[in-house]
Amino acid sequence: DKLNQLTTPLLEWYSSAARDLPWRTPASETHRPDPYHVWVSEIMLQQTRVEAVKAYYARFLTAFPNIKSLANAPQDELMKLWQGLGYYSRANNLKRAAIEIEERFHGEFPRTYQEILSLPGIGEYTAGAIASIALGEAVPAIDGNVYRIYTRLFEDDSDITKAAFKKQLRSELLQTIPPGTPGIYNQAWMDLGATICQPNGAPLCDKCPFVSRCQAHIHDSWSAFPVKPPK
Ligand code: ADE
Repeated sequence: DKLNQLTTPLLEWYSSAARDLPWRTPASETHRPDPYHVWVSEIMLQQTRVEAVKAYYARFLTAFPNIKSLANAPQDELMKLWQGLGYYSRANNLKRAAIEIEERFHGEFPRTYQEILSLPGIGEYTAGAIASIALGEAVPAIDGNVYRIYTRLFEDDSDITKAAFKKQLRSELLQTIPPGTPGIYNQAWMDLGATICQPNGAPLCDKCPFVSRCQAHIHDSWSAFPVKPPK
């Protein structure tokens, strides 16, 4: 497996470079964060940058501290708390899903990837993020960060929008997830993509744990990956 040798350097890097974010538990604590908290953060982070999300996240959880309060959220209050984040369907889906959790799961956040995936507004990435980070399930959470790092590492010019590529990457990642700490592993990819192998501007290769084996670094070809599919 191409990714096998990367797990140790990645986790080592993350242990000193992880970002301290409000929806994560502090590095000194080993317990996992609450799935409700991870869910809210992941939905906000779908179209909004980390720095902008922080204040919204805190206000939202103060107003709706649990699933039940979100299921009963007055529409005007929900919209007000979302104002400025945009993409209001995200907020409406959050409330719809909270109502479903009340009805289908007796108010308990579902505990498996498949059940989480069945909720409105939750796709494969988000279900994987919640299941791995909050529930310890060994599933990948593949977002743009992972695509970017992976295609650069191997100078892989695949069309990343193709199902075959996604399936291949998913299966490679599945085989390298450390069973005890899948959420740490997945968030290490996210942080590496956000802070080192970044989407805008040159990557900070001298700080990257993969620098010596990255084909795009070796050939200075990072700007060509991931390949943008023709419009
Ligand atoms: N972007 C989306 N989810 C994230 C997370 N859990 N940590 C860091 N960046 C993220």
